[in-house]
Amino acid sequence: MRKKIVAGNWKMNLDYNEGLALFSEIINIVNDEITGTQQAVICSPFIHIHSLVQLAKGYNKVAVGAQNAHQAESGAYTGEISAKMIKSTGAAYVILGHSERRQYFGETNALLAQKTDTVLKHDLTPIFCIGETLQERETETHFDVIKTQLVEGIFHLNAEDFGKLVIAYEPVWAIGTGVTATSAQAQEIHEFIRKEIAAKYNQEVADATTILYGGSCNPKNAAELFAQGDIDGGLIGGASLKSRDFVDIVKTFN
Ligand code: G3P
Repeated sequence: MRKKIVAGNWKMNLDYNEGLALFSEIINIVNDEITGTQQAVICSPFIHIHSLVQLAKGYNKVAVGAQNAHQAESGAYTGEISAKMIKSTGAAYVILGHSERRQYFGETNALLAQKTDTVLKHDLTPIFCIGETLQERETETHFDVIKTQLVEGIFHLNAEDFGKLVIAYEPVWAIGTGVTATSAQAQEIHEFIRKEIAAKYNQEVADATTILYGGSCNPKNAAELFAQGDIDGGLIGGASLKSRDFVDIVKTFN
């Protein structure tokens, strides 16, 4: 049975104390109300990570992650953070290839392949984001776009390393817009992704891969989305900034 994960992506929100306060609320509600084996994850800005890891000690249902990592081991990259540094804080996950990083920071599939290698080298779990823009969907090129993101981003990995990552399908047109993909739209793409994995590797690897949905997921639509056969959880933006909403989404898997 593949892992069920609900990961919050705080993006560039919350100062240091606000982040600690929100995380404290989340871990207490999770501890009281989560009865299943699902994994909750909070991917915070770098400034919070080490402190959140300390707060999470003893709450094994909540893990901590980063939202990016540089591809190099170390060096003259002012302002950047390495996978080794992230690992040293106690974090377990790293979001890679979020559409906002592809859009605003020019991250290409080739660069993300390098980032994925470095993150895996440091025993961190990549949450590798893929997804199409509205124009790509409207021109019906979205399947090609998603396949290219897989092939150029992560299909260079051997089956063992591929089995260590998580994929997040985030239709760009659903991110932050309140326009969620229908469960049928999301399931269609998730099923396509899983079939591509099976064709590249084998059915066992495909069946074991956790594929998250992201894009205006909230407590009202999570149950229908997560009931789909190939949707294994969510990557949550706005709703992860409210402890009640985020945990209500995690509770979907109770
Ligand atoms: O990484 C998750 C994020 O892109 C989704 O954002 O606000 O639509 O849940 P949101």
